[in-house]
Amino acid sequence: MSKLVIETNDISKVYRMGNEEVRALKSVSIKINRGEYVAFMGPSGSGKSTLMNIIGCLDTPSGGRYILNSKDVSDMTENELAEIRNREIGFVFQTFNLLPRATCLENVALPLIYAGYGKEERDEKARAALESVGLGDRVGHKPNELSGGQRQRVAIARALVNNPSIILADEPTGNLDTKTSYDIMGLFHELHQQGNTIIMVTHEDDIAHYSHRIVRLRDGLVETDTINENPTVVNPFQAV
Ligand SMILES: Nc1ncnc2c1ncn2[C@@H]1O[C@H](COP(=O)(O)OP(=O)(O)OP(=O)(O)O)[C@@H](O)[C@H]1O
Ligand SMILES: [Mg+2]
Repeated sequence: MSKLVIETNDISKVYRMGNEEVRALKSVSIKINRGEYVAFMGPSGSGKSTLMNIIGCLDTPSGGRYILNSKDVSDMTENELAEIRNREIGFVFQTFNLLPRATCLENVALPLIYAGYGKEERDEKARAALESVGLGDRVGHKPNELSGGQRQRVAIARALVNNPSIILADEPTGNLDTKTSYDIMGLFHELHQQGNTIIMVTHEDDIAHYSHRIVRLRDGLVETDTINENPTVVNPFQAV
């Protein structure tokens, strides 16, 4: 299998709002290898979420080429994109995006419905994913019966349940206190150790420093792309 997993070639994204055009991405070319741990940083409006959405096949570029796992996804149909998303990618959002009336188990099992698994297998996989984030004793709780950090861990369990090789997290610690944020970084560290490719967006320098490469965007362009020689070491007690 090729080491290169994500390759954007001169991609651009233009949003049209009535007569106005917003050039969210002007020209972005980046390569990410399997197993990398990357942080996207940059000012508000610089295009981080837009780029994440394209990388995650939630959106398509207006121009340029996006190659994921050696496949050009730029021209794929909605259905083909959905299939790739389901198979390859786990998303974690800042706002968790959990269903309020569903239990943890049901929330985590949701992607497996789209993937076509039967109920028994869904529950089994969802339970295992919740256990892997240290929430094996909360399967029957609803989101409002959990702390913010626990909710984010449910969201991470849901992102992991399909066994994706790429984990995309847009501000995964944005709504969390410092201690809980570090717990989530402990979890990401483990996922990275297991060989997953992780890309996260963050505004916070100390969070970005857990990653091994920092890409800074500005005005829809890559401003800097640097290796982080000394990533923050995760305290073993921090890992879940
Ligand atoms: N759906 C949309 N329609 C129109 N314009 C959009 C849309 N999504 C984003 N934009 C615009 O594109 C630009 C980039 O937005 P994006 O969400 O990628 O920024 P960001 O770097 O993630 O910012 P933040 O740090 O505030 O989350 C912004 O100017 C934004 O207003
Ligand atoms: Mg954003």
